[in-house]
Amino acid sequence: MTSKRNILVTSALPYANGPIHLGHLVEYIQTDIWARFQRLRGNNCYYVCADDAHGTPIMLRARQDGITPEELIAATKKQHEADFADFLINFDNYYTTHSDENREFASSIYLKLREQGHIQTRTIKQAYDPEAEMFLPDRFIKGTCPKCGAQDQYGDNCEVCSATYDPTELINPVSAVSGAAPVEKDSEQYFFKLSDFSGMLQEWLKQGHVQSEIANKLSEWFEEGLQDWDISRNAPYWGFEIPDAPGKYFYVWMDAPMGYMASFKNLCDQKNKTGTSINFDDYWAADSSNELYHFIGKDIARFHVLFWPAVLDGAGYRKPTAVFCHGFLTVNGQKMSKSRGTFIRARTYLEHLNPEYLRYYYTAKLSSGVDDIDLNLEDFMQRVNSDLVGKVVNIASRCAGFITKKFDNQLSAELPEPQLYNEIVAAGEQIASYYENREYSKAVREIMAQADKANVYIDENKPWVLARTPGREDEVQKICTQGLNMFRLLMTYLKPILPATAKKSETFLNIELDWASINQPLLSHTINKFKPLLTRIEKEQIEAMTHDSIEKTGSTPADSSISGPLAADPVAAEISFDDFARVDLRIARIVKAENVEGADKLLQLTLDIGGGSDDKSTRNVFAGIKSAYSPEDLEGKLTVMVANLAPRKMRFGISEGMVLAAGPGGKDLFILNPDEGAEPGMKVK
Ligand code: MSP
Ligand code: ZN
Repeated sequence: MTSKRNILVTSALPYANGPIHLGHLVEYIQTDIWARFQRLRGNNCYYVCADDAHGTPIMLRARQDGITPEELIAATKKQHEADFADFLINFDNYYTTHSDENREFASSIYLKLREQGHIQTRTIKQAYDPEAEMFLPDRFIKGTCPKCGAQDQYGDNCEVCSATYDPTELINPVSAVSGAAPVEKDSEQYFFKLSDFSGMLQEWLKQGHVQSEIANKLSEWFEEGLQDWDISRNAPYWGFEIPDAPGKYFYVWMDAPMGYMASFKNLCDQKNKTGTSINFDDYWAADSSNELYHFIGKDIARFHVLFWPAVLDGAGYRKPTAVFCHGFLTVNGQKMSKSRGTFIRARTYLEHLNPEYLRYYYTAKLSSGVDDIDLNLEDFMQRVNSDLVGKVVNIASRCAGFITKKFDNQLSAELPEPQLYNEIVAAGEQIASYYENREYSKAVREIMAQADKANVYIDENKPWVLARTPGREDEVQKICTQGLNMFRLLMTYLKPILPATAKKSETFLNIELDWASINQPLLSHTINKFKPLLTRIEKEQIEAMTHDSIEKTGSTPADSSISGPLAADPVAAEISFDDFARVDLRIARIVKAENVEGADKLLQLTLDIGGGSDDKSTRNVFAGIKSAYSPEDLEGKLTVMVANLAPRKMRFGISEGMVLAAGPGGKDLFILNPDEGAEPGMKVK
């Protein structure tokens, strides 16, 4: 027996400004299965994660929603946690980078790096929005691509021709925050001298801590030469202030990976309070012999295989044992798309389908490489139905009834085919090694090959025929005992992928599914009544999910970080007169106006658009005009509203329309005053 390993695994920390979608879940499912597998094999394995709660997009998104960043990240964290829990992602701790622990790590690590001479200040020119009075990250500058002339492209790359460039090269650049033309402004920034670690990193990368595809990519970066890394951002910024540098904040990617440590530290503190001791240093000290793995997507490799190991090294911590990188999800062979209904949120999926189906399908597709994986919805349905329902669950459902009805829930005292049972036990080591090496699709293929054998056995022995053949009843008990024992092995192997079905199987088989005890078949053992374990996927469920995921426009307020009231964007794409005519503008009377708890910019309005006592004549609308009006100023006033806007779910409730107000903002936002002749319900022409 090898000794128990001590392992800490992480998944990348999702940004706290948007919902979890099926793309993210590739990673959390992959990691969760690995962690569950390690525990099932008897190892000590902790799995921690957190929300990545800092950065410009989160700051702007909160402003746009009329809430504070703290409110935004708290609400998002709740949603993320619920989504993960419902997908059976079993974190030991789910934390946030906006925590005391993380602030502590950010400053102590920074100070150690500074002490060692790895921090340097330099004055650089940066794009500045003179209207919003803030420095602009590349993503917040838009303009015409200098290479192909495509309009409305981001400041770092063109989505049309894939060119990469500097924001200063954009033609007619505008700030996505205010619409103003950015100017260049000098600013002192703090740099991490990555080049100090060039030798260490090249050595580290030779030692097999990263996949070969990533190592190749890295050699390219080394050839280009390692650039020093700007770790500071100017106020206003949402993050941690840099020690001894007022008005300068850590760039979100500086403190984000430290969130792994902070989440683990928080776990240690919780556990130590309840008597289980885990020692932080055992996992993070420079001389730690415990294992540390980061699961990440290929888009963020550079941060995890260059900056992060260098920061850890410079601050006197251990480096990861390995960084495991995966590819991106496509749906039906294409990038996820809102208009096709393939940008599917975790929550939307859960409203229609069992999470274990997706866990199984991803596992069946995942390898240890960085290739993209495709969720083909047709194949997904067939694969789940034929493998899980048709092969695995079928074994149990074909055998259980006889044992219950004819043999008082008792398994026989011996197996008729111990050889076959042992073969499936022996396959376990190969399956385990596939799991260990993240060759999940191979593990699944091997498990299904064993399931096929079990089904052949039952097909050939036909217990349902013997049950009707006088004098052969005893054989039925043995055949079904053989069948259920094989089912038990398969479910043990599938337990990391299908934790809920495994749990139901444990109740049914009346044992705990445990890898260490598979050598011993269940004999003369009492089982429980069989209850259906998994049902088939119906086509309608998939259609309904896709339907619910279709969004007419490119992005919704919930996903975009830089549109909406905050962005006094340049004039939007032209619409036809017919488009305009479809907008039903009406005069409405504000019958009630109230503050919204937790939102410092929103007012909740009850609007009367005429039509008497009809339910539809009053509307609940949230409007971001609190800066200009207190509720009591508004009651009784008239406003113009969009009366046929689809109801929109906002954080605080449903908004059934939109109020039009005009003005530069702040205190100067104008709505109509009561006026002779204007009546609620009148159309605005
Ligand atoms: N906040 C950073 C990570 C910081 S880690 C210290 C981030 N967040 S993210 O929300 O954009 O992505 C979280 C993880 O999900 C990343 O590893 C990312 O690669 C992964 N995925 C996001 N979309 C994905 C797909 N469409 N497909 C597969 N993985 C994807 O990056
Ligand atoms: Zn272009």
